[in-house]
Amino acid sequence: MKIKSANFVMSNSNVAKCPKELLPEYAFIGRSNVGKSSLINMLTQRKSLAKTSGRPGKTQLINHFKINENWFLVDLPGYGYARVSKKDKKTFQKYITDYFLERQQLVCAFVLVDIRHEPQKVDLEFMEWMGENQIPFCLIFTKADKLKPKAIENHVNTYLKALLEGVWEEAPKYFVTSSSNGLGKEELLAFIEDININ
Ligand code: GTP
Ligand code: MG
Repeated sequence: MKIKSANFVMSNSNVAKCPKELLPEYAFIGRSNVGKSSLINMLTQRKSLAKTSGRPGKTQLINHFKINENWFLVDLPGYGYARVSKKDKKTFQKYITDYFLERQQLVCAFVLVDIRHEPQKVDLEFMEWMGENQIPFCLIFTKADKLKPKAIENHVNTYLKALLEGVWEEAPKYFVTSSSNGLGKEELLAFIEDININ
């Protein structure tokens, strides 16, 4: 799919205030600093459409970006960021969970994990929660530029194995990506296009 336009629409912390249009949307979620905002920029080929930072906790709101005038990409705050206060952590977790539970337009969520890391409890628990609430998601491995091909394969296999040894009977659909070198871009956009036209 060719991205002809990508525009920031709004940021807010209340799912009830998100855009009213009934357009398909795809949301990016995962630990702080995993590369959610960078991936949105990579997919849309807009350098700073979504704000990124080397310091975790950059994205703090629900951000809607309208793509090709007919679907949305949604950038969300990260979870598992220790440096925000307990109270803040609670509020953003609540509006993230509200977003997933209430947003009718959500077609698929992308749960991002850093390909270099062993499966982390917080991510596995989040995916379990998505499953319990029947929220469709795919898994995205980020920062694949940091590993050699053989290591990528090993890390992906270890991850899928951990899911299958846990609560999952079937591994989720997954993508291996790098916002630095564009790996996974075409595959991910083709996946979205396929859903949008069907
Ligand atoms: P929060 O908004 O804080 O939750 O973080 P985020 O998940 O949106 O991460 P962000 O896109 O801001 O990226 C965090 C850091 O990782 C930045 O320094 C990025 O440059 C870096 N980064 C993101 N994706 C990649 C990637 O594919 N490869 C490499 N090498 N670095 C990446
Ligand atoms: Mg971000």
